[in-house]
Amino acid sequence: MTETTTVSGMEHGLPFDPYAYGFHEDPYPTYSRLRAEAPVYYHGGMNFWALAGHADVRAAFRDTQRLSNSWGVSMDPSAYGPDAHKSMSFLAMDDPKHMRIRKLVSKGFTPRRVNELTGRITALTHQHWSRCLDKGEFDFVHDFAALLPMDVVSELLGVPEADRTRLRHQSDLLLHREDGDLDLPEAAVYAYIELHKYYSELIADRRKNPGEDLVSALIAAEIDDDETGEKTKLTEDEIVGFMVLMVVAGNETTTKLLANALYWGWRNPDELAKVFADPEVVVPDWTEETLRYDNSTQIVVRRVIEDAPYGDFVIPAGDRVLLLVGSANRDVEVFGADADRYEIGRDCSQALMSFGLGAHFCLGAHLARLEANIGLTEVVKSIRAVDIDADKAVRVHSVNVRGFAELPVKVTVR
Ligand code: HEM
Repeated sequence: MTETTTVSGMEHGLPFDPYAYGFHEDPYPTYSRLRAEAPVYYHGGMNFWALAGHADVRAAFRDTQRLSNSWGVSMDPSAYGPDAHKSMSFLAMDDPKHMRIRKLVSKGFTPRRVNELTGRITALTHQHWSRCLDKGEFDFVHDFAALLPMDVVSELLGVPEADRTRLRHQSDLLLHREDGDLDLPEAAVYAYIELHKYYSELIADRRKNPGEDLVSALIAAEIDDDETGEKTKLTEDEIVGFMVLMVVAGNETTTKLLANALYWGWRNPDELAKVFADPEVVVPDWTEETLRYDNSTQIVVRRVIEDAPYGDFVIPAGDRVLLLVGSANRDVEVFGADADRYEIGRDCSQALMSFGLGAHFCLGAHLARLEANIGLTEVVKSIRAVDIDADKAVRVHSVNVRGFAELPVKVTVR
C-alpha cells in the first residue's frame, strides 16, 4: 500500500544529516544503512526525501515528468530556488527550454570536438605537473588538480591565457565555501560578480570579433521561442549563465576526481601497482573505478512537481528529493557483494550514476574522463612512488561535492 503520510528520519531510527561533518568524512556506512533500512527516506526536520538504491536513483534521473530541475540541483540554499537558472543555466531548467539550449551547447562537446582538445590538455598537464616534480613535495590539489580543469574550461570558452590566473582565482573563491551557510560568503559574491563582468566583456568582444570558440557559436545561434515559435537568440544573461555553469559544473568536479583517484590508489597499493605496471591500459580503469567508488558529485537534488511514487511512499508535489548518487554507485544489487571494495578493472561504466542519466546527463562526461586519463597518465609515468600525508589532508565539507581541499603528497621521480 502506498502512503502519502511520511515517517521522519529520526523515527526511522536512522539519523541522516547531509550537512554533518562526520557524514562528509565517510558517508558510505550511512548510505549502506539507508539502502538496507530506508531506501526511500524522509527527513521531517529538514523536509527532504532521499533515494539511496541504484534502481530508484536511476528511475528518478529519468523521471523528468514528476521531478524537476527548475529550482536547481544542489542543496546549497543560494543555488536552490526559482532563480537557480541564473547561476546554473540550463542545468536548472526543464524541457523544452533546457533541451533547446542543451542542443546548441552540445555542439561544443561532441567526441570529435573534445578529442581535438587532447593536445592542449596534454600540454597544460605537462606544464603544471613538471612544476610539481621540481618541488617533489607539494599540495596535489592546489599545485595540480585545481589548475588543469579550469584551464580546460577557459580553453573551451576561448578565454585568453593572460586572463586565466585571475579567473582561476575567482572560481576558487566562488567554489570555496561551506555548505550549510545560509548566505554566500562575501568573497564568493564578489567572485560571482567579477566572473559575470569578465564573461560579459568577453561576449562583447566576441560579438565584434567572432572566433571558432563555443561562445561565438552561442552568440550566433538561433533557437525557437517557446511561446511564439519564432527564432530568437540567447540573451546576454543566458550566455553568461552558461559560462558560469561551466565553472561550477566542469571545474571542481574534475579537480576532485583527480585527487580522489590518487588518494584511493595510494590507500590501495595493490591496485595502484596495476596502474604503474601498465599506465596506458590501466589508467582509464583507474578513472572509472574512482568515479564509482568515490564520485566527486555525491548528491543531486530535484523538486517534485507531480506526486511521485517511490518504494512504499508517494513523495508529494512541492517536496525536495535527494538522489544519492554516491550510494547508488555502491549498491550490491548492481555492483556485487564487494561493491565497497576499490578494485581497478571492474566492469562498471554502464551502471555508473556518477554523471547522472537521461535528459541532464553530464555534457562534460567525455571531457572529464579525457582530462583525468591524461592527467593521471602523466602522473604515474613520471614517478616511481607517491606518499600522501593523510593526517594533513583536508576534506571539502559540502553536501554535493566530495573530495579534498588539500592533499599533501611527496613523489619519487623516475
Ligand atoms: C551535468 C557530474 C564534469 C558540464 C552533470 C550531472 C552530473 C555531473 C551528476 C547531472 C546533474 C543533474 O542531473 O541534475 C559530473 C562529474 C564530473 C563532471 C562527476 C567530473 C568528474 C563536467 C565537465 C563539464 C561538465 C568537465 C564541462 C566542462 C556539465 C553540464 C551539465 C552537467 C553542462 C548539465 C547538463 C544538462 O543539464 O543538460 N554533471 N560532471 N561536467 N555537467 Fe558534469
